[in-house]
Amino acid sequence: MSVVPYKEKQEGKKEQVAEMFNNISKKYDFLNHLLSLGIDITWRKKAIKLLQKDKPKLILDIATGTGDFAIEALALHPDKVIGVDISAGMLEEGKKKMKKRKLDHIIDLQMGDSEKLLFEDNKFDAVIVSFGVRNFENLEKGLSDMYRVLKPGGKTVIVEFSKPKKFPMKQGYNFYFKYILPQIGKLVSKDNAAYTYLPESVQAFPDGENFLSVLKKVGFKQTQCKPLTFGISSIYIGEK
Ligand SMILES: C[S@@+](CC[C@H](N)C(=O)[O-])C[C@H]1O[C@@H](n2cnc3c(N)ncnc32)[C@H](O)[C@@H]1O
Repeated sequence: MSVVPYKEKQEGKKEQVAEMFNNISKKYDFLNHLLSLGIDITWRKKAIKLLQKDKPKLILDIATGTGDFAIEALALHPDKVIGVDISAGMLEEGKKKMKKRKLDHIIDLQMGDSEKLLFEDNKFDAVIVSFGVRNFENLEKGLSDMYRVLKPGGKTVIVEFSKPKKFPMKQGYNFYFKYILPQIGKLVSKDNAAYTYLPESVQAFPDGENFLSVLKKVGFKQTQCKPLTFGISSIYIGEK
């Protein structure tokens, strides 16, 4: 059984995830930085640095949300970054942000599903995802389609929450994630389920070697995992 935000509802994970992000889209950026004390920003920056030598010109940011990872990718001086997401609400917030920062000529945000990408094979120099893969309804399908649209020799860089393994970080993190974060999330976002879904979905999601084995299964080579901040998050890299 996959973890879904609204357990009492009948819709599948994809519909529920889109609905949840539509509900919290206006508070998403604020809560993200508050709940992670801003560390999420440094994680995205670190991940993008891993693509520096590759100099990708056309980048696809999957599950772009409000576009923060797409903005970080501009450090690579690409010609274009395309961001896709299934939540209209998140994209709307993202588009406002791009317009305000005068980035809408280089970052193009579009409606799009990672499991059914409307791009031809071998199109992108790099495909990136931050905090998106955990929300896919079908992880293998999503990663396979990312592989399909990536050029041979191109890289994927994925950032996702993982589970710290060592004392006392493991215990401290579990307490924070289970008891503190859902309360703050609920209070600010007014969505009762979104920040309970977050720790539950992290718990159920494959991390470390388990995630690398899914990447390898769909075809990625030279796979690597780089844990961040005691393993609270990890960067995964794969090559086509
Ligand atoms: C936690 S947000 C991450 C947003 C952004 N990448 C960031 O780092 O802040 C997860 C996003 O994944 C999107 N998402 C979930 N499943 C998706 C799918 N199958 N295809 C595209 N986007 C998806 C959600 O709508 C949501 O905006």
